[in-house]
Amino acid sequence: MPQVFLEHRLCVAPMMDRTDRHCRLLLRLLAPHARLYTEMLTARAVVAGDRERLLRFDAREHPVALQLGGSEPAELALAARVGADEGYDEINLNIGCPSDRVQAGCFGAALMREPERVADCVTAMRAAVSVPVTVKTRLGVDHDDSYEFLHKFAATIVAAGCRTLIVHARKAWLTGLSPKQNREVPPLDYGRVHRLKRDFPQTEIVINGGLTDAATAKGELAHVDGIMLGRAAYHEPMLLAEIDELLWGTACGTGFCGSGFSRDLAEKSRHAAQLAYCRYIEAELGRGTPLKAMTRHLLGIYARERGGRKWRRALAMLADGAAGLDGLRALIRANAESRYSGVAELARIASPVFQST
Ligand SMILES: Cc1cc2nc3c(=O)[nH]c(=O)nc-3n(C[C@H](O)[C@H](O)[C@H](O)COP(=O)(O)O)c2cc1C
Repeated sequence: MPQVFLEHRLCVAPMMDRTDRHCRLLLRLLAPHARLYTEMLTARAVVAGDRERLLRFDAREHPVALQLGGSEPAELALAARVGADEGYDEINLNIGCPSDRVQAGCFGAALMREPERVADCVTAMRAAVSVPVTVKTRLGVDHDDSYEFLHKFAATIVAAGCRTLIVHARKAWLTGLSPKQNREVPPLDYGRVHRLKRDFPQTEIVINGGLTDAATAKGELAHVDGIMLGRAAYHEPMLLAEIDELLWGTACGTGFCGSGFSRDLAEKSRHAAQLAYCRYIEAELGRGTPLKAMTRHLLGIYARERGGRKWRRALAMLADGAAGLDGLRALIRANAESRYSGVAELARIASPVFQST
């Protein structure tokens, strides 16, 4: 009997310079069930760096995974321990990053060619922590792109005890393509990830890459255990809310359950999340966090909608500090009033997610 896996049904991909703690908190407010991933941190930075700055997160982010980059088992084990001690729910090893910087340190996608070494890393990390150790990888690397290559890689790390494999469904080209091109040029091949799931029924397989609409994303769950969205979740966060609602039917923890993600439900969910995010911003301003570090993640909240450009322009013009937050609140209210007639109703929302700051 294939095992049933539910932990990774919906995930937000690790993204450098995107999924910092502010971004994750906002996405959590929109998608109460999504598993969130940090930006990749090198094992060395985690072991030697400023833990408070690098690893701090808000308790509401759970479930949240720390993604590590590295290739030294002992160092990764130490870093995994630090992450688990800080309270992360999962430690993920990045074996998919194609950047030059990462190759020079001999980790990322290049390590797909050294499955035994990755297995040693997984073994060492698992021995160091009690939370799950997972791996994020690609279909292959350069000309090592056969299904057999992927199968052997997966079999080796599964034998080392990795129960969850996240697969970006395209290979990495290590020479000649930038990291950005490596997310667009090599073609997607979802069929290979589906085949991997068929061949490893006892392993949780999560598909990633190019998921940009709710129906397709949900449809993937007929083939694999989980879906992971990166760019679409960031640039169009309401899509994440829509998928969460589609899969669990409890939009944003607001108590506004509905059938399907109606316009009404979307407006309520968005507004409730915005208000809660403002409370979060207020608390963070008190700790000295610059306003823009938080408002930048709101840019896409009206993506592909009427008024989206105006919203982005207005966000860019906000002053810093408390005055900027006042401006943001006024902006949110004006937007809500022009789009939704029941704004007063929103003020009465009493969900635990939104009450705490
Ligand atoms: C700006 C940016 C930064 C990224 N940083 C990471 C990273 O730190 N670790 C990682 O495993 N993948 C990283 N990725 C890749 C994503 O996790 C994901 O695999 C890729 O974007 C494909 O998914 P998508 O088509 O849903 O965006 C990054 C992607 C982007 C766009």
